[in-house]
Amino acid sequence: MDEAVIYTILGEEGFTRMVAAFYRRVKTDDLIGPMYPEDDLAGAEERLRDFLLFRFGNDPRYQMKRGHPRLRRRHAPFSIGDAEAGRWLELMDGAMEETKVPASIRMAGCRGWW
Ligand code: HEM
Repeated sequence: MDEAVIYTILGEEGFTRMVAAFYRRVKTDDLIGPMYPEDDLAGAEERLRDFLLFRFGNDPRYQMKRGHPRLRRRHAPFSIGDAEAGRWLELMDGAMEETKVPASIRMAGCRGWW
């Protein structure tokens, strides 16, 4: 499905609620929680939110604040194996469920972005 269509369906508010629900889960997660900056979880939430708004809706805020995403490089300091990647997806799945992201657009995910 086209990303612009997903953006139209979810809107900035939908992405914002989904990412907030995701970070509520990250905060208490035993496996990936400790990777995130404890004193800047709000900042991390804003970075992912802005990125998704940029990627799906061409919103300029992420690039203005962070430049080119370079997600592979930015994740390099962390040790992310199958378990960690699986947990990230699990938490995002829970966040999508909680904030009622329509099932029809969930699978579009973020495959092959980095
Ligand atoms: C595979 C499992 C993943 C793990 C364990 C993980 C973990 C992390 C961690 C620990 C950070 C640093 C938090 C911060 O200070 O911003 C981060 C940043 C970020 N992650 Fe991930 N991540 C994963 C997958 C993804 C995916 C699939 C996306 C894209 C949808 C993504 C997008 C981002 C973005 C946009 C940032 C902020 C980059 C910046 O510094 O501007 N991550 N991630």
